[in-house]
Amino acid sequence: MNPAADVIIPAVEVTHLRKVYGSGHTEVVAMRDATLSIAPGEIVGMFGPSGSGKSTLLTAMALINPPTSGQIAIGGRQVMDGPRALVDLRAFRREHLGFVFQKANLIPFLTALENVRIALEVNDISPKAARKRALELLDYLGVGPRAHNLPVALSGGEQQRVAVARALANSPSLILADEPTAALDGPLGRQVMELFAKIAHERQAGVIVVTHDHRTLDVFDRILDVEDGMIHSRNNPHSPPP
Ligand SMILES: Nc1ncnc2c1ncn2[C@@H]1O[C@H](COP(=O)(O)OP(=O)(O)OP(=O)(O)O)[C@@H](O)[C@H]1O
Ligand SMILES: [Mg+2]
Repeated sequence: MNPAADVIIPAVEVTHLRKVYGSGHTEVVAMRDATLSIAPGEIVGMFGPSGSGKSTLLTAMALINPPTSGQIAIGGRQVMDGPRALVDLRAFRREHLGFVFQKANLIPFLTALENVRIALEVNDISPKAARKRALELLDYLGVGPRAHNLPVALSGGEQQRVAVARALANSPSLILADEPTAALDGPLGRQVMELFAKIAHERQAGVIVVTHDHRTLDVFDRILDVEDGMIHSRNNPHSPPP
């Protein structure tokens, strides 16, 4: 038997990440010392007071905000060593990461379908295959019937689901969402959260969601509390038993 076969490669692994913005009088230590590991198929909720460093940590893992020091590995590959990139970040992001923001940020003059297609076509997928995959994703997210509408004709929840479809387009192994349901009301917010859980469990992606909404606590396999520039992980007493 090969003992290595049992080893699970984390979707993301962060080691002693520190982030300082500015210098001198304007210096802000946004993250003091963060260490965490997320398994494939795991959905984790990140909680913490305003200004505690949640977005800093998430954007660092999204490879758009380089750490001051510390390491980031994604899918077993070392990608950041302090501020130094060890891979081509643009290509790596495109191929392995999905990011969802508070606002859907859809391109207003493209239809729902085109907004998803464009994410595929930048990865050199043929227009025909991109169209098929984009339609499948919109169906998966329950917005297939809205595929040919412009964002302005979609509700907030529908727009956010199109944004999730776009984030999933390239089958990312790591999905990062920063308050994705903040602009949605209760039931819609819950729908989007449940979707993330489904994606984590069905597609074996690692999913990290920053949220202030304790009503959706039960969707998370685990909770990360961000406090004072540090991360504390705890099991979620509200999650259903596996
Ligand atoms: N680009 C920046 N330049 C300077 N300081 C920054 C920058 N971005 C964030 N900060 C500071 O870093 C600290 C952490 O900010 P961050 O946005 O990560 O917090 P957060 O936990 O996401 O807060 P919120 O819940 O309000 O979104 C804050 O003190 C913030 O003012
Ligand atoms: Mg934030």
